[in-house]
Formats: sequence, structure tokens, C-alpha cells
Amino acid sequence: MTGLRKENPFDDLRRTSEKLVARLKAEVKSEPLQEWQQKGKKLVAKIHAEVKQAKIDDDARFLKTWLDKPLVTGAVYPSSKALARKMASYVDPESLGPVVELGPGTGPVTDALLARGIAEERLVLVEFNPEFCALLARRYPKATIVQGDAYALETVVAPHLKKPAAAVVSSLPLFTKPERLRLELLNRAFGLMVPGAPFIQFTYATVSPVPRKGGSFEAHVSPRIWKNLPPACVWVYRRLQA
Ligand SMILES: C[S@@+](CC[C@H](N)C(=O)[O-])C[C@H]1O[C@@H](n2cnc3c(N)ncnc32)[C@H](O)[C@@H]1O
Repeated sequence: MTGLRKENPFDDLRRTSEKLVARLKAEVKSEPLQEWQQKGKKLVAKIHAEVKQAKIDDDARFLKTWLDKPLVTGAVYPSSKALARKMASYVDPESLGPVVELGPGTGPVTDALLARGIAEERLVLVEFNPEFCALLARRYPKATIVQGDAYALETVVAPHLKKPAAAVVSSLPLFTKPERLRLELLNRAFGLMVPGAPFIQFTYATVSPVPRKGGSFEAHVSPRIWKNLPPACVWVYRRLQA
């Protein structure tokens, strides 16, 4: 409009910050600035300690469960961020439908799935250990937590799926089970997923955790992820389309 000065886009921002500074000054009057700074530093230290503690707790929790039930827990430490990220990278964030995680433990792979852009509401977390389930329910309140045996996919998992799953992401210690059961698990998982969807599995071993001979699926293996204790590979299986 003519005759009126056009407002600088930063004027609004400047006014807001001036108001904020004025408010801060008024509040600081009642308490010296140094005290404010000290309070802030203490708060930051407390947050740091809590974050550190949470990590130690997860490692300790895991170690304790491994000592109690080594074959079920299957690992001494939770998966590293690098391994979890690799697993999640095989889930298409554009896909639709639930994403099933078998053996989420304390949730490192779950975190990676969320970071990959999978909405928490889509996650169905199937865990045997009741303590881990309680922890998962606190950490992922919008996810569906199923306490039970992941090998019983049809009875334990299927009732929680409103649609065919977009992926199954497994950290189960498969080598503790006979080959026949591993193959059955894979075929049952294919039955719950949309055609072509991936079954993603990590392993510390150098061979496929699901026997490949005679299977009607294709398999892909990632390079070894060295930033994990012990180093691991990720296998991705897809049912062959007719
Ligand atoms: C190797 S840990 C992996 C945990 C976590 N995903 C990670 O990467 O750190 C295997 C997890 O599978 C769970 N688990 C083992 N057998 C299971 C079963 N039959 N059904 C459900 N969960 C099982 C264990 O309790 C444990 O939490």
C-alpha cells in the first residue's frame, strides 16, 4: 500500500525478543544472575547423570537377564546404534501397515525404527521377558506390547495385526532353535506380511541363521557391522513371488 512504511520481517521478531529480555530482567532482579547460572549448570549436570544412568541401567539389565537366561537373551549387551540403524534401514518408511519387532529387549532397534520414521503406533513389540515388556511399555506408550513367545506367531502376534505387516524385524537368538523351527518362523512371518515385505534378522554368525537350502525365499546379507559387540551381520529374507 502506498503511504505506509512496509514492515521489516524482522521487526516482529525483534519486538518479541525485546519483550522476553524485559521479562527476564524483571525476574533476574529478584535473584542475582550468578545464582541463575549455577542453578542452570546443576540442572544440566543432573540431566547428564540421568542420561548416563539410563544407558548403564540398560546394559546392566541386559547383563543380568543374560546371566539368568543366556539362551533366551542371546546377547550379553544390547545392540549398538550402528547395528540397530542397519536393521531399520531395510524397513521402507513409505510402507503401510504394522511393523512387528521380535525380541526388542530394552529397545535399541525400536529406537532406530522410530528414527527411520516409523510411527510408534505402528509398532508391535513381541518380547518374552516380562521385565523388558514393562520397560518397553513405559518407553513406547503408543506401541502395542505383546508379552509372549514370538515363535507362536499365529496365536501370539496375528490377533494384534489389523492389517498385513510391512516388515518383521527380529533379534531372536535363532541359533538356539532347531533349523526346522527357524524355517517355520520365517514362513509364518511371510504369512503375516504383505507380499515382498522383508524379514530382517541380525546374527553374530558367519552363515545364514535360516537354512537356505530348499527355501522358497531370497536372501541378502549386509556387510559385517564392526561397531557392535560382537560384530554382526543383518540378513534380509523375502518370499519369492510366484
Ligand atoms: C539378542 S536379544 C536382542 C534385544 C534387542 N533387540 C537388541 O538388539 O539389543 C534377544 C531378545 O529376544 C527375546 N526373546 C528370546 N526368545 C524369545 C521368544 N521366543 N519370544 C519373544 N522374545 C524372545 C529376549 O528376551 C531378548 O530380549
